[in-house]
Amino acid sequence: MNKNAWTAICSAVVMIWAAGDVRAQFAKVEDAIKYRQSVMSVLGTHFTRLGAMVRGETPFVREAFEENASLVATLLKLPWEAFQVAGSDKASALRPEALSQKEDFLKLARANQDEVAKLLAAAKAGELSGIRSAFGAAGASCKACHDSYRRK
Ligand code: HEC
Repeated sequence: MNKNAWTAICSAVVMIWAAGDVRAQFAKVEDAIKYRQSVMSVLGTHFTRLGAMVRGETPFVREAFEENASLVATLLKLPWEAFQVAGSDKASALRPEALSQKEDFLKLARANQDEVAKLLAAAKAGELSGIRSAFGAAGASCKACHDSYRRK
């Protein structure tokens, strides 16, 4: 057997192992959907609080801003494998392309985590204009994924 064939077999084995691993985290497809929707819902609540402070709808308190940004950053570590469970595009707002274009989906997830990390750094620095622009960039990177991979 030539080297290319071995490479193909090895990567197929790795892919099957990886897929099995993701599925093993959740007993049922519905569990994966419920898990990720819960995470998104909670992080959405904290992100909305940030937005209210940025827009001046609630008083800007630096410590509270940092705490909420930190929670969003932590929560963003959780949901991504739950988005990769086969069949979970049914009965949810996940578009099937998120499963067939997994690399792109995960790229948008990482970009979002990077922007939220910058937002947290800006919150620590405490300068409102820096916080405002970092919040805008973070929000845009949430939206970038929703536009491509979330059903309206
Ligand atoms: C890489 C893609 C991606 C990124 C990045 C992303 N989301 Fe989402 N989000 C989704 C998808 C897909 C759904 C629909 C999930 C489902 O129905 O199972 C969703 C659902 C939601 C929901 C609805 C949860 C519910 O109750 O069902 C909220 C709120 C939300 N996202 C907020 C955010 C915020 C805030 C950010 C940025 C900090 C963000 N999302 C970043 C893909 C993403």
